[in-house]
Amino acid sequence: MKSDGRRVILGIESSCDETAAAVVVEGRRVLSSVVASQIDLHRRFGGVVPEIASRAHIEAVNTVIAQAMKNAAVGPEQIDAIAVTHEPGLIGSLLVGLMAAKTLAWAWSRPLIGVNHVYAHAYAAALDAEPIDYPAVALVCSGGHTALYRCDSPTRLKLLGATIDDAAGEAFDKVASILGLGYPGGPEIDSLAKGADAGAVRFPRTLLHGQSLDFSFSGLKTAVLYHVRGVPGRSNKYPGSAPATLTESQIADVAASFQAAAVDVLRIKLRRAAVKIGARSLVLGGGVAANSALRQAITELAEKLKCSLRLPPLKYCLDNAAMIAGLAWHYLDQGVTANLELDALATVKR
Ligand code: KG4
Ligand code: ZN
Repeated sequence: MKSDGRRVILGIESSCDETAAAVVVEGRRVLSSVVASQIDLHRRFGGVVPEIASRAHIEAVNTVIAQAMKNAAVGPEQIDAIAVTHEPGLIGSLLVGLMAAKTLAWAWSRPLIGVNHVYAHAYAAALDAEPIDYPAVALVCSGGHTALYRCDSPTRLKLLGATIDDAAGEAFDKVASILGLGYPGGPEIDSLAKGADAGAVRFPRTLLHGQSLDFSFSGLKTAVLYHVRGVPGRSNKYPGSAPATLTESQIADVAASFQAAAVDVLRIKLRRAAVKIGARSLVLGGGVAANSALRQAITELAEKLKCSLRLPPLKYCLDNAAMIAGLAWHYLDQGVTANLELDALATVKR
């Protein structure tokens, strides 16, 4: 293994519905990042179907790894370690990437490094960029996760708060479905909300009690449902109507109003956390970090708080393996590796 920092890591990611592989040098320089998305397979179900996801990972994983090695123009002899997402995620999906990584680690006699998917989202902003200035507060919000972390280094994270029900991305996807929009819902709502009236409907901002850093999005989602369909068996608190009778511009206004409520809560909680820990940087990660209204709100927040702002580019917000290989470099640097008994874990205790 190279003794300097220029170690090359092959990363593999398969925790949800993207099969991904990447080759990253020194934890930040991305030589290749290949992502095979299964969105088209899951679209007609309006969400990820675990059985279909694992089968699709099996079909894609070898090709995706080979493509990442080819794009990076490296052979096995140049790879210093194999990194893989082993928690949290869909168990059948995780196992496919984990088996591929273990096989390569064994066949090539290289160390294996297990990486937490959510921690990797909190690190993605450092890819092809400057190192993050710590302490940082990271907001990771995706289809499966919404959590705030205090980060003292790439590998030292402390959970400050998380959703007690739906993830933010899940709320975007479900609200899009209520409004009859496509899947995944986040990008649809984002683009529809542009130019629409975000003040048309005042949806609830669930802030929970006092200084809580936890989140709740299921009430917001239900409020949109009641607004659109009416409350069953009661007079309608919100002046809504059936989806068929909403005009296109009313649908866009509801989408924008929902997005404004979700973004408000994310911004307020991120602010609370940043002030609490005296953060030097605000870091965003996960699919919802691609949302233009959220990016705008957090950009303004960082200016107000005089914090450095770390917004990953779109390709590193969404699931990818570059963030896995990048973060793994820091574990390798600290001598933290796994053995071939490494387990996949669907959930991680708080
Ligand atoms: O990180 P990711 O690719 O997968 C998970 O780990 O879940 O995130 C996917 C989620 C989906 O819920 C999708 O609707 C949401 O990210 N998303 C967005 C946007 N782009 C993707 N949500 C809001 N605005 C967007 N522009
Ligand atoms: Zn993710």
